[in-house]
Amino acid sequence: MTALFEMRHVGKRFGGLAAVDDFSISIGGGELVGLIGPNGAGKTTVFNVISGFIPPTGGEVFWKGASITGFPAHRVAAAGIARTFQNIRLFGDMSVLENVMVSFHHSLRSNFMHAMLGTPRHRKEESRIRRESMSCLEETGLAHLFAEKAANLPYGQQRKLEIARALATRPRLLLLDEPAAGMNPSETMELAALIRRIRDNHGTGIFLIEHDMKFIMRLCERIKVLDHGQSIAEGAPADIRKNLAVIKAYLGSTGYASS
Ligand SMILES: Nc1ncnc2c1ncn2[C@@H]1O[C@H](COP(=O)(O)OP(=O)(O)OP(=O)(O)O)[C@@H](O)[C@H]1O
Ligand SMILES: [Mg+2]
Repeated sequence: MTALFEMRHVGKRFGGLAAVDDFSISIGGGELVGLIGPNGAGKTTVFNVISGFIPPTGGEVFWKGASITGFPAHRVAAAGIARTFQNIRLFGDMSVLENVMVSFHHSLRSNFMHAMLGTPRHRKEESRIRRESMSCLEETGLAHLFAEKAANLPYGQQRKLEIARALATRPRLLLLDEPAAGMNPSETMELAALIRRIRDNHGTGIFLIEHDMKFIMRLCERIKVLDHGQSIAEGAPADIRKNLAVIKAYLGSTGYASS
C-alpha cells in the first residue's frame, strides 16, 4: 500500500556539512511518529526539507505516492502538510483570532479586488473564515482568548496558537517542531492530550520533534533517531529506550536512558 508520506534517501548538505544524510521514513494517515536526536542532529532540517523551506540536495519526498521533492512551501501546504516552528512565529500585535485567520487567507489567497470592494462574496468568505478560525481555537482550547493580543499570551499558549494556525490549512500531516519547549509539566500534559485529540478526530498523521523524552515516549507509536545527520534507529518507544546506539548518542547530554 502507498504510504501517505514517504522520504527516500533524502540528504541536505550545507557546504561541507551533511546536516541530513540518507534519511528515509514512511508515515501513514493517523500515525504518531517521533523524531529525536541530540542538538544539531538535523531534525529541524528534515522538517525544513519536507515543508519546502529548503530543497534537499539528494533523495526524494513523496506525498500520496507522487513526488513533491523541491516543491515550494505554499505548494506543500496546499497539498496538506502543515508545520509549527521551533522558534514561535506569530504576529504578536494581532489578536489570537486574527493570527488564525491569516493562515486561512494565506492558504486561500483571497481575491484582493473582492477584499477592496467589500463585495458580498468577500464578506461571506470572511465570515466563513472567522467561523472556521474560531473552531480551530476551540479545538486547541484558546477560544476564550480570541480577542487577546498574541504577544500577551503566556509561552505555552503561544505554542498552542501555532498549532491552531497549522490546523487552519486542514492538514493531513502535521509537523510539530518542539511543541513542548518552555512548557510546564501540566501544560505539557495538556499538549499531549491535544495532539492525540487532533489525530483521533481528524486522522491526521503527526511527525513530532521533541527533547522531552517522557513526553515523546508516552505519545509516539514509533520513533526515529538522528545523530549527526545519520539515522541511527527507528522503532517502538520501548525498543528505542534500550537501543545501545541511541543511549550512546545521548550519553551525558540528557540522561534520558534512565528516565
Ligand atoms: N540554513 C543553514 N545553513 C547552514 N547550516 C545549517 C542551516 N540549518 C541548519 N544548519 C546546520 O545543520 C545542522 C543540523 O541543524 P538542525 O537545526 O537541523 O538540528 P536540530 O536537530 O534541529 O537541532 P536542535 O535540537 O538544536 O534544534 C547543524 O549543524 C546546523 O548548524
Ligand atoms: Mg531543531
